[in-house]
Amino acid sequence: MTILTRRNLLKSAAAAGAAGIGLAAAGRFVGWAAAKPEPLILKTASIEAKLTDGAPTKNVLTYGEAGPPPVVRMKKGEPFAARLVNDIDDPTTIHWHGVRVPNKMDGVPFLIQPYVYRGDHFDYAFTPPDAGTFWYHPHCDTLIQTGHGLTGVIVVENPNDPKFDSEVVINLRDWRLGDDGQFIEQFRPRDAARSGTFGTVRTANWLDQPQYDAPAGGLVRLRAAITDVTRIYAFRVEGAEAAVIALDGNPVPQRFAPDALQLGPGQRLELAIRMPDEEGAIVSLRDVRGTKPKILATLRAVGNSVKRDMRDLGPLEVNPVAEVDVTDAKHISLALSATAENLPSDGICGSLGYSFWAINKVPWSGDTPDPTAPLAELKLGKSYVIDMENLTPHSHPIHLHGMSFKVLSSSTRQVQPLVSDTYLIQPNEKVQLGLAADNPGDWLLHCHIIEHQKTGMTSYFRVV
Ligand code: C2O
Ligand code: CU
Repeated sequence: MTILTRRNLLKSAAAAGAAGIGLAAAGRFVGWAAAKPEPLILKTASIEAKLTDGAPTKNVLTYGEAGPPPVVRMKKGEPFAARLVNDIDDPTTIHWHGVRVPNKMDGVPFLIQPYVYRGDHFDYAFTPPDAGTFWYHPHCDTLIQTGHGLTGVIVVENPNDPKFDSEVVINLRDWRLGDDGQFIEQFRPRDAARSGTFGTVRTANWLDQPQYDAPAGGLVRLRAAITDVTRIYAFRVEGAEAAVIALDGNPVPQRFAPDALQLGPGQRLELAIRMPDEEGAIVSLRDVRGTKPKILATLRAVGNSVKRDMRDLGPLEVNPVAEVDVTDAKHISLALSATAENLPSDGICGSLGYSFWAINKVPWSGDTPDPTAPLAELKLGKSYVIDMENLTPHSHPIHLHGMSFKVLSSSTRQVQPLVSDTYLIQPNEKVQLGLAADNPGDWLLHCHIIEHQKTGMTSYFRVV
């Protein structure tokens, strides 16, 4: 029996692409038995939190005792373990959004794992193959549970990353609160049938426009995750040179300035920001979309300039995602549309009681105890091209679990060959996404505007 050292493993995982995941899933890394990590305890709680100038908000949900869910740190290629302990009335699970985990760790109730009821726990264990910014959230009753707070950021570190002077992690989300600071109806059906119901209070790390200090003249790595249930952002940085270095956990092939870059729920932005040289100078991260632009967070330059240069930053290591063989790929057509049915559909896991949306004309009922057949069955190891078309007048962040795709082309814009798990498809856009089906199991594909997901725009691929 070969005992794998970490270094060999990283090599072989890289060489084998995502096959490494399968191996990890099968638990064949006997050499690691001793290194089994202590599980991180993620315990759900219902708390009061200060989200507005007014009274604290009741029934805010979090992992931990107080404040926002912790930033969960993992290391690329090293085993990670977490125990979800449920201490709220609603049953729950954790989905590790964007992390390519073995299927049984994916956190989708019914399709994959049982609900975790109050007082129960569930153990998650996997080895993240990719470095980058990801996030975690429940996958049942998602509108209420994530809408009330259960969204946290994941940072998967890579020791080979270029050297930054500081790192800022930002969890972007809204809250639907009334004037008294308490939760109001999480959605309105007529909005669910359009672009979704927006929150009334906008936060970064549960704060209104927080400020973080960073060394003057230094290079900041800013990681932002959009964990809101509805809002699409358009990002801009003012007061400093900034470059997009990664999106959705994967390095971008060519860096670019975030000039009103649009990203939707579920997506992640990584920026390199070169702080100004003058002490006290302010840099702002803004959302410039729509009629109410907002400063999301600011950075303040502190100390004497450390005089770094953007050009010092070497490339981020590419993640070991298997190459798509386009010449040999089968095509899968996905048409996103509205549905005229408007009937209540029964789904147990947080059905909203309506269906407004469809994939290939079917308004899917979501995560039910008796899931319908998959949207498509994919052969393990084969390449696919997903031809996805948006026939609606709204944008949809379409998210695939368990595997990363590569953006091949779009009918409406120049696209970089980004590797991602979420694609924000615009009205009337047709896009081609390349996928190597290398992770066996049932993998959800859904819009991450949760009201859309829960009213028909969700389904799954089966990889066998
Ligand atoms: Cu963020 Cu189905 O997930
Ligand atoms: Cu949508």
